[in-house]
This record gives sequence, C-alpha cells and structure tokens, in this order.
Amino acid sequence: MQAQARAQPNIALIKYWGKRDLARNLPATGSISLTLADLFTEMRVIADDALREDVLLVNGDESRTMLARVSACIDQVAGDRRPAVRVESHSNFPIAAGLASSAAAFAALVVAADAAFETRKTPHQLANLAGRASGSAARSLLGGFVELRNRPDEVEVATLLPAVDWPLQVVVAITAPGPKPVSSGDAMEISRKTSPFYDRWVEQQSADLGEARAAIETRDLRRLGAVAEHNCLKMHSVMWASRPPLTYWNSATVACMQTVRDLQAGGTEVFFTIDAGPQLKAVCSAAAAPAVRDALAATAGVGDVMVSGLGGGAGTLAT
Ligand code: DP6
Repeated sequence: MQAQARAQPNIALIKYWGKRDLARNLPATGSISLTLADLFTEMRVIADDALREDVLLVNGDESRTMLARVSACIDQVAGDRRPAVRVESHSNFPIAAGLASSAAAFAALVVAADAAFETRKTPHQLANLAGRASGSAARSLLGGFVELRNRPDEVEVATLLPAVDWPLQVVVAITAPGPKPVSSGDAMEISRKTSPFYDRWVEQQSADLGEARAAIETRDLRRLGAVAEHNCLKMHSVMWASRPPLTYWNSATVACMQTVRDLQAGGTEVFFTIDAGPQLKAVCSAAAAPAVRDALAATAGVGDVMVSGLGGGAGTLAT
C-alpha cells in the first residue's frame, strides 16, 4: 500500500487571516488564490506494518517538527486504526518561509493517503481534509484561479478560471530563505485576539472577494492588482497592530514593493502580494515576466528569484 502525489503551492490574492473554528481549523472568511505550476511538493505515503510509528522524511532528512500534523492528517483520511506509514516529502522550493509550503504539502498528502489506503474520497472531501491540516491547503487541490468559500461546518473550493484561460506569471523574490519566526496559524490567533483592526478586516472581506471575482472574470490585471495589493496591505496592517506585533517583512521586502511601484509607474502591468513571510510575489503577464524578474533580481537584499506560471491542482503520480 503506497502512493505518491504532487501539489503546487498557491498564492492568495484575497487572503485567509483568522479562524472561525479553531478545533476544525475553519477560516473566518473566504479567500481567492492562484495555484502555481513550477514549484511543487511531492509526497509519498508507504504503509508499513513493520513500523511501530509514523516516520516523516523531508527532503531526505527525518523530521519530527511536522510529524504530529502529518500523522493527524493521515488519520483524518484513513482513520486512526490504519497501519503506521513512512511519508517522504520533497519540495523544489524553500519550505516554511512564507511560500505556502504547508499548502502544497497537505494537499499532496491527502491525495497520496487517499490513494494509498484506497479511501476513495471525493475532491470536496479531500479539500476539507487538507483544509483541516492547513486552511490554505484546501485551495491547492485545484488549479488556476481558485476561490475558497465558507459553508456551514465546512469549506468549498471552486476554480474561477483555469490557468490556460489567463496564463499569468508569478515572480517570487526570496529575501530570506529561513523558516518564519511565528507560524501563520499561531499568528492569526494572536491577530484575532488582539488586533483592533481584525473585525473590520473580516467585515470587508466579502467586498474584496467580489471585486477580485469580477476582475478575474474580465481578466483585468489592473483591477485585480488594485484589490489584491489593498487586501495584502490590510492583512499586514492587522498583523502590525497585533500584540505582540507580527512583522514578517524585512528591508528587502519593502525595497521589492518599491521596485513593483517603479515598474507600475513605467507602464508595466504587475502587482505584488506578500504572505506571512518576507518574500514578495509579483503577478504579471507572461510578456512582462522577464522585466519583472530582472528588476526584482537587481533589488537590494534579494537573494534569489523564481518564476512560475499557473498550474493545475493536486494529483497522484505513478509510483
Ligand atoms: C498569509 O494556511 O498556513 O498565507 O490553517 O493555520 O495552517 P493554517 O494557516 P495557513 O495560513 C495561510 C495564511 C496566508 C494567507 C493565505 O494563504 O490565504
């Protein structure tokens, strides 16, 4: 009993920041994201009766940090009377640095566990199981432009537009490759409990979702960029006003924002977004991507730049 699956990270344009149900890890609001094509995580799940407990290998090294979450996620798919498993995870991008690595990991994990144990869950069930492990992971089940909607006691994910219908590019500027100081899950609880802006953030989310949906439907990059940058900066304002403050940016993050502003002033259609980490993601047309990549690579403090198209959702691989 073994299976392997691959999933790509997704980048939220209208962000998830805050939970309405901690025990079931349900988000306070809906969100909209892009699923990437060229960055990926592969998860192999091998059931092994000889093992006494689950083992997790991340890029070849045994890891105990994520083991409890990984085991709990597999229990959700296959039940807790399942045999122990060996899980092998490989990513082709830096993990735990605000690049949505947990989204790709848990999306791939639920698909691999479902295939290994032949549990035959529906895509909707798999999205909810991935979302239980990490809210943003539900979105990586699908490709292209994805909306996550809140439903009573669960979430629902839907593709708003497939990647081929609006093949944008995402340029990721890596300003610091290390793991983030506070996990997003912990940080959003700090924001919910302490930020004076949190309630307004939640209240305004449906307006931002509507605006982004309309921009995607009409493939209007300028309109999408305006609402995505606003939503991103609003989320970071909620974080900055939390106690203790949550400041994920460094000076290079700010320099990258200025680079995007300069590109915009010069007529390039590009916009930025930043998650719970110091990396900046610039979204642009395929034609603009080389200029955006060069400008971000030349920005002070940027270590590495990755470019990705938009891709499909999670799926199994031949073992
Ligand atoms: C800033 O999905 O990592 O990237 O559900 O606690 O695992 P947990 O949180 P997670 O949070 C993602 C936060 C974000 C915004 C987003 O992806 O929507």
